[in-house]
Amino acid sequence: MTETHADPEPQPIDPAIEAALQASQEARSAALLDLARIPSISALPEHAPDMVVTAEWIAERLRRVGATDVEVSPTALHPIVYGRIHEAPDAPTILLYCHYDVQPADPLELWETAPFEPFVRDGRFVGRGVADDKGHIVMHLSVLEALRATGRAPAVNLTFVFEGEEEYGSESLYTWIEQHRDRLAADAAVISDTGFFEGNRPAITVGLRGIMYAQIDVELSPVDLHSGMYGGVVGNPANALAGIIAALKGPDGRIRIPGFYDDVVPLTAEEREAMVALAFDEEAFRTGIPVSALVGEAGWTAIERKGARPTLDVNGMWSGFQGEGAKTIIPAHAHAKVSTRLVANQQPRAVFEALRDYVAEIAPPGVTVRTTFIHGGEPSLTPIDHAATKAAARSIRAVFGVDPLYVREGGSIPVTAAFDHTLGLPVVLLGFMQPASNAHAPNEWLDVDNFERGTRTIVRLWDELASLPR
Ligand code: BES
Ligand code: MN
Ligand code: MN
Repeated sequence: MTETHADPEPQPIDPAIEAALQASQEARSAALLDLARIPSISALPEHAPDMVVTAEWIAERLRRVGATDVEVSPTALHPIVYGRIHEAPDAPTILLYCHYDVQPADPLELWETAPFEPFVRDGRFVGRGVADDKGHIVMHLSVLEALRATGRAPAVNLTFVFEGEEEYGSESLYTWIEQHRDRLAADAAVISDTGFFEGNRPAITVGLRGIMYAQIDVELSPVDLHSGMYGGVVGNPANALAGIIAALKGPDGRIRIPGFYDDVVPLTAEEREAMVALAFDEEAFRTGIPVSALVGEAGWTAIERKGARPTLDVNGMWSGFQGEGAKTIIPAHAHAKVSTRLVANQQPRAVFEALRDYVAEIAPPGVTVRTTFIHGGEPSLTPIDHAATKAAARSIRAVFGVDPLYVREGGSIPVTAAFDHTLGLPVVLLGFMQPASNAHAPNEWLDVDNFERGTRTIVRLWDELASLPR
């Protein structure tokens, strides 16, 4: 999995395409800045019009490179952009996916400049979404433009799906995929929404964690109660919630929900060895964040814990008095957002039910406890020896002059499992962001060199995939 044979020399791409990319360099950079200027925050209802603007921006570019059937397809929430360039009669068809939505930009005061006024400085694009995931959209569009500038079409048939709800759980996309199966028929899928390994080592992601996101609400009474008049005789939602949360995990970092680990596929000895071979530098990772210590489930290294083991985290909690000074109340209610990252073959619904039942069982008397499902996505694993993955590896090797590492990512891309399980497609996760790119955080950035070389890697990828066995 991580052979360390001598790194080959990078191989230049087709000279005509290279010339076209050089000629379009400024325009490509301007295109990313344009796209990143649109505040397409999927989670905030006030940005719904921006979602449509972004979708139309992409659709327009697809039309300009001669895509057919281009459509901004409405859903229950944000539109999906669809299109196709099928001009290679006997070649395989590739389903290409990126997402055009971004995470909220807060806390604004930690940005050096406004999040939606992107710019280039010191070899980096900076702005919300430049890495996750708009840079990848522009890389793909750029390849199509360069091909057209030289009078060509991609060597594979491409079907495009650009989604606007990835950062919000992709719920609309699941339904949409079911409804449009026939228009999504393909031989493989390429998802460009991942990145490289620590230190900007070229990598292909072969595992993504799934997610199950829930909310726990604890209720006592219609309004807050005087803690002197009622303390000692009624329950307390905040105390109850703290107790429930504390019982979700043991001091050894193991999740205590009965049955939680039942469907976890054990890592093989080879898989654990391959992770050791990645030589993940825990100390550099710790100081890079920085945090005072790395902690987690006993018996597993940090790289295993963040890519190949399930987790449970409280994402937010609120209850009672939060102002300055003191207020003597028993809060009427308490709430927590709780999510678990899942690994193969855990199922979000089953994990939700296990959480809900366990919370109900441990809830103390005197309060009412309710657990609600918010969203879920399945984990996914890609065999590294699949022909499509190998084609991506050859493309990286040709452009970057090194063999990629194969890594499991701790993050989630819900559509991956849908392409895999619903459409039955092998999925290649090929993306170019750096782990330190501040995705979801202030001052998100994308390395201009990764953007340039990523674009050339995609040029090669379509050629490499043309010979994919069908
Ligand atoms: N691009 C990320 C997923 C990712 C993270 C890939 C880190 C590689 C490295 C994606 O946009 C993302 O953030 N997904 C969400 C999904 C969730 C909202 C369902 C995540 O992982 O939190
Ligand atoms: Mn993303
Ligand atoms: Mn993201």
